[in-house]
Amino acid sequence: MIDLGLQGKRVVVAGAGYNPIRAGHGRWSAQLLGAAGASVACVDIDEGRAKAIAAEVREAGGEALPIVADVRERDEVVRAFDEVAAEFGGVDGCVDIVGLATWNGLLDISPEAWDEQLRENLTQVFLVWQEAARRMVAQGGGGSLVALASIDGMVAAAFHGPYGAAKAGVISLAKTFAYEFGKYGIRANVVAPGNVGGGNMDQPVDEFATNGINPLAAPRTIDIANSVLFLCSDLAARTTGQTLVVDGGATTAELWGVTEDMLPALRVALP
Ligand SMILES: NC(=O)c1ccc[n+]([C@@H]2O[C@H](COP(=O)([O-])OP(=O)(O)OC[C@H]3O[C@@H](n4cnc5c(N)ncnc54)[C@H](O)[C@@H]3O)[C@@H](O)[C@H]2O)c1
Repeated sequence: MIDLGLQGKRVVVAGAGYNPIRAGHGRWSAQLLGAAGASVACVDIDEGRAKAIAAEVREAGGEALPIVADVRERDEVVRAFDEVAAEFGGVDGCVDIVGLATWNGLLDISPEAWDEQLRENLTQVFLVWQEAARRMVAQGGGGSLVALASIDGMVAAAFHGPYGAAKAGVISLAKTFAYEFGKYGIRANVVAPGNVGGGNMDQPVDEFATNGINPLAAPRTIDIANSVLFLCSDLAARTTGQTLVVDGGATTAELWGVTEDMLPALRVALP
């Protein structure tokens, strides 16, 4: 048996709820953490979603606490961590799922829309990680911070300009948190999904190279949650400041010299 080191650990998942038209990264992450033995604080802006995912984790035999908070607001973040402390006695892990892109060309983005996207995708990660780290330092037992970025933070984010800039900021923030808090045994890492869209869970497990965007296969929600689980776990004990890209190989592409007529060969699965 491999011990993930999560038994009895107290993990906050911000954005743990499930919206059926979205990928469900929070839901799967909360479920896996619960199945690994962690007590999961399921934070969501939507009360019904917070309660539903907490109930799911409990039904599967785990321990969970629903918390309603808008993590874009510092007061609500502090209150959410107070609720975690009152119920669980502390916090050992913190996963921030929250984030949403808007679609607009760079010329069509107002200063207000820019600020809103940065608050939604970057500032709230800072607020959540800052509060988690503050409490982890006070406890003295180390901890793990994880957030979802996106490959949009690593390559051009066409029509997602502020979102891409914010996600690049999350990738940077992980390095700074890792550096400033390493001395306390606190790690900070990021998972950068490729396009999971509304969820690719129905993709056949043995289907590879069906498109040129994801040369291996499109990433599924479970692939993102597995990476979150790894980074929260003791398996990642010496991994910090890193971004784990889970994109089916999409950003490995270097198409220089590749012509249109060569593309089909890239899409054929190897024997
Ligand atoms: N789906 C993809 O293809 C993809 C690709 C790259 C990155 N991502 C990243 O994944 C994350 C989103 O994953 P998803 O689509 O599964 O999640 P989602 O949009 O369904 O959100 C998860 C939960 O977060 C809650 N939430 C939203 N705003 C909140 C707030 N201010 N405070 C507290 N809770 C809030 C929602 O109510 C929801 O239940 C984002 O960070 C996104 O950038 C997704």
